[in-house]
Amino acid sequence: MAKVKIQVRDLSFYYGAFQALNSLNLDVFSGEILGLMGPAKSGKSTFLRILNRMSDLIPDSRVTGSVLLDGEYILAPNYDLDLLRRRVGMVFAKPIPLPRSIYENLAFAPRLHLKKSKAEMDALVEWALRAAQLWDEVKDRLHDSALKLSGGQQQRLCLARTLAMEPEVILLDEPTSGLDPISTARIEETLSQLRKDYTIILVSNNTKQIARVADKVGFLLMSELIEYGVTPKVFTVPQDKRTDDYITGRFG
Ligand SMILES: Nc1ncnc2c1ncn2[C@@H]1O[C@H](COP(=O)(O)OP(=O)(O)OP(=O)(O)O)[C@@H](O)[C@H]1O
Ligand SMILES: [Mg+2]
Repeated sequence: MAKVKIQVRDLSFYYGAFQALNSLNLDVFSGEILGLMGPAKSGKSTFLRILNRMSDLIPDSRVTGSVLLDGEYILAPNYDLDLLRRRVGMVFAKPIPLPRSIYENLAFAPRLHLKKSKAEMDALVEWALRAAQLWDEVKDRLHDSALKLSGGQQQRLCLARTLAMEPEVILLDEPTSGLDPISTARIEETLSQLRKDYTIILVSNNTKQIARVADKVGFLLMSELIEYGVTPKVFTVPQDKRTDDYITGRFG
């Protein structure tokens, strides 16, 4: 039996008076990819930001309900946010490498947080680049600027940078939205390889991508989780008509 890594109960989120999430309930399991789909403004990014408390940075916002990570209530005001953000890493739609070398992009944050010798850091950099399936393309130019990489390579670099912090959960917010089909396929392949060792939440409005890589699917519509289930089932026999409309392209 897969273990529940993240348990979400009755989770609501407000920007001022506007309710962006309405009483979400779902479990995310270790070793699985949860795909989250839904039209623009349905609350997908809002949900991800709560899971590593990036949402704390938004003035006049409010969260209610419960999120447990390995059984710990992560919404507690005194929860250790540095530790949380190391355990729950995030990759954004637009890769933003540091204007430094490929090596430094990976070593920068671990150097601040994890005590590693030079040899250990070299090993960590290689491991993260291999895990993100970028190693072969960059191993001979680790000290070149990361800004010289292609968009697809930069996205894998940002994934590697997240992995180098040794997270347990990886949140990805439309990581392939700016990429060509070949780079997209490489990212999808990478996620499939990583799945067994991590808990992954992939937000994408590409329903075909969700169908290809996700083990479970959630469908968000206007702040509500309309559907949640095992991927092939959601795509063949959705419980809610609105899910059917969305996946068959009738709206969204
Ligand atoms: N910082 C903010 N302040 C106020 N309202 C916000 C803020 N961020 C998001 N919202 C609102 O919350 C709702 C949900 O936004 P969110 O970004 O979570 O949607 P999304 O599903 O990720 O959309 P998209 O597919 O466009 O990325 C939207 O109506 C949005 O305008
Ligand atoms: Mg979004």
